[in-house]
Amino acid sequence: MKFIKFKTEAEAVKHVAEIIVKKIHAKPSLALGLATGSTPIKLYQTLVDDYKHHTISKQATDWSHVKTFNLDEYVGVDYNSEISYHKFMADNLFDKVNINKHNTFFPEDHSFDSLISKQGGVDLQILGIGTNGHIGFNEPGSKADSLTRVVELVPNTIAVNAKKFFNGDINAVPKTAISMGLASILKSKEIILLAFEDAKTDAISKLKKAKSFDPSFPASILTQHPNVTIIFDSSVKVDA
Ligand code: GLP
Repeated sequence: MKFIKFKTEAEAVKHVAEIIVKKIHAKPSLALGLATGSTPIKLYQTLVDDYKHHTISKQATDWSHVKTFNLDEYVGVDYNSEISYHKFMADNLFDKVNINKHNTFFPEDHSFDSLISKQGGVDLQILGIGTNGHIGFNEPGSKADSLTRVVELVPNTIAVNAKKFFNGDINAVPKTAISMGLASILKSKEIILLAFEDAKTDAISKLKKAKSFDPSFPASILTQHPNVTIIFDSSVKVDA
């Protein structure tokens, strides 16, 4: 695992957006694994800016052949509702670039892993991290061989997401989600994990110390992958 620290989130996000844009130009049918949550919002904005104003690439970035696979979605939500991750992705990225919606995939059942394989696998997976070390919605206790499945959210995740996205209303947060598993994530050819808040300091510090997989800290599965970069900014109090 490589750790790269940037002074600001804007600099970090620009670096990641440059990697993604370069990859799309080199391989127009790039398969991106995408995350939701507060962490990737600025990254998506930066990609949209590039699409609209060529801020990263001098030539237009064509998203029409790009394929995307989202990590997770709440169970039982209307995909058009404000709380759905389908809606989050539409609002933050898909409706703002020329992606073909037929090339955007979300986990609906356990067939998601074979769908990803049939599509050729994920080239680059973008991840956030929960304060408890979850990736996707793989909460502590998730198994190393876990694939896409329905998961119960733990109280800490419900509380954090209530504060961030549901005006503090714990009852409004769905209690179950469908998430790619740890083994699903590990199949990606390359992984970039992002962290831009002081609240992620403990998680990133633990990840830096991790030597092997510990189910109580799901992100430690990344120690088992050959091409992982952790990108964070100075709000995370960890040295690179
Ligand atoms: C959420 C999502 C994850 C996300 C993580 C961190 O609950 N299921 O995909 O990466 O937890 O979220 P945030 O970026 O809002 O801190």
